[in-house]
Amino acid sequence: MTLPFPELTAEEAASLIEHGQMLGCSGFTPAGSVKAIPTALAKRAAAEHAAGRPFTLGILTGASTGPSFDGALAKAEAIHFRTPYQSDPLLRKQINSGKVRFVDMHLSMLPQAVRYGFLGPLHWAVVEAADVTPGGGIVLTASAGATPTYLAKAERILIEWNANHPPALLGMHDLFEPVDPPARSEIPIFSVTDRAGSPICMVDPRKIAGMVRTQLDDECAPFAPATAITEKIGANVSEFLIAETRAGRIPKRFLPLQSGVGDIANSVLAALGESPDIPPFEMYTEVLQDSVIPLLENEACTFASTCALTLSPEQMRHFYANLDFFRKRVVLRPQEISNHPEIVRRLGIISMNTAIEIDLFGNVNSTHVLGTQMMNGIGGSGDFTRNAYLSIFSCPSVQKNGAVSTIVPLVTHVDHNEHSVQIVATEQGVADLRGKDPQERARLIIENCAHPDYRDQLRAYARRAQQGHGQLSLPDAFRMHEALLRDGTMKSAQFV
Ligand code: COA
Repeated sequence: MTLPFPELTAEEAASLIEHGQMLGCSGFTPAGSVKAIPTALAKRAAAEHAAGRPFTLGILTGASTGPSFDGALAKAEAIHFRTPYQSDPLLRKQINSGKVRFVDMHLSMLPQAVRYGFLGPLHWAVVEAADVTPGGGIVLTASAGATPTYLAKAERILIEWNANHPPALLGMHDLFEPVDPPARSEIPIFSVTDRAGSPICMVDPRKIAGMVRTQLDDECAPFAPATAITEKIGANVSEFLIAETRAGRIPKRFLPLQSGVGDIANSVLAALGESPDIPPFEMYTEVLQDSVIPLLENEACTFASTCALTLSPEQMRHFYANLDFFRKRVVLRPQEISNHPEIVRRLGIISMNTAIEIDLFGNVNSTHVLGTQMMNGIGGSGDFTRNAYLSIFSCPSVQKNGAVSTIVPLVTHVDHNEHSVQIVATEQGVADLRGKDPQERARLIIENCAHPDYRDQLRAYARRAQQGHGQLSLPDAFRMHEALLRDGTMKSAQFV
């Protein structure tokens, strides 16, 4: 098959991109992320810098990427602007030292921000494909992310055609892009399995500057085995959901689940999958991790709508070897749809995400350690939390060998406020905040969720706090954080 655009090496593709340009790249987690062109761009940046010339780029993706993308570009100091999410340790350092401008965005809102022009011109779409047709049809790979929007809006396009993703992926994606206001109508997704869009992206082939052939695995790490703490959190959330079902507050056929990334999320899903009291469930989520594959196979999970297949290379090969089985049980949607508030609210999703710290009001910080050190970003947690039928946050009650209590008087940064957070779960227990006033919330969070080592301090804080509608002591609110900075532990904080 002759394609009407040139086949390039990754280095030739990278040479087309100019210093200062904005790139919209495929990848939502390392799933479906471009790899060869970013690595070549990093080499180019290093060479330009060695020659005394500037070379940095603005980078938009779906979410985080892997070492050959964010890692390589950060090492080459080749990023000046980054949104909407990242999880690379070096890039994180550059963001926190002010070297890289980072905008932490709700993932569902990124595509429309690009369409509305809020992020400036998009010079390039750099995307991974499982198949390309001469007429400009592009079959995406392991994620949909914001790629359809980047392909539509970018001035020019570069493609990585990755032979590790089979062309038979055609049909896994459901690519729907809402019309912009004031002409927008409802998104026609009324159940988890509904399809509303196209299985393929169509672009003007004249925009395609070239294509690079690759054969590279996605850089998704297998998740760590459960610990006693993550297992206990998983069991607590699972028991809470069983009790809700028995009480008739969750319908007998259950409600679709959204589950965040990481080890706690895996433990919660494993506990739900093993429980004989939880009926077979559906997922409407943004990331499908390794832990969901056995749940789909044993029909604990009957269908998963996701934005990304964040699978380890081994699990990805298993998925492709059994594509006919999974095709009937999985759909890949753009992040604008997988995380869309309208659908989250309509389907009655149960959202389960992880916190860095939670305060006595129920406000959650998911992003900034000590209010200043960006971890990864809000990701999709806000899209789901604000609109869920039940919004659950979990975390261990302590971090850093007990030096940090994750339950604090006041969070140092707010991502999810008390009006959206309904359930808090740690390995200690669950605080159900629905219908509770601020005093009741504080009491439940301290007694059910805080670590016993910190309960007396938190009780003493609550006693000292000004009692109005809510408990707050302005001089004491950050005393535990100050103690951590001063003494290396929150345990030395005094409330007398
Ligand atoms: N103070 C200091 N450090 C803290 C902390 C706190 N209150 N809470 C967590 N940390 C540190 C942990 O010690 C750990 O550090 P390490 O990497 O040096 O071991 C790190 O943060 C990650 O915490 P961990 O307990 O391993 O949980 P995790 O990997 O599940 O990450 C979040 C937790 C909150 C950082 C992560 O879930 C996140 O980025 N969430 C926001 C985005 C999101 O929710 N996405 C899903 C939407 S679908």
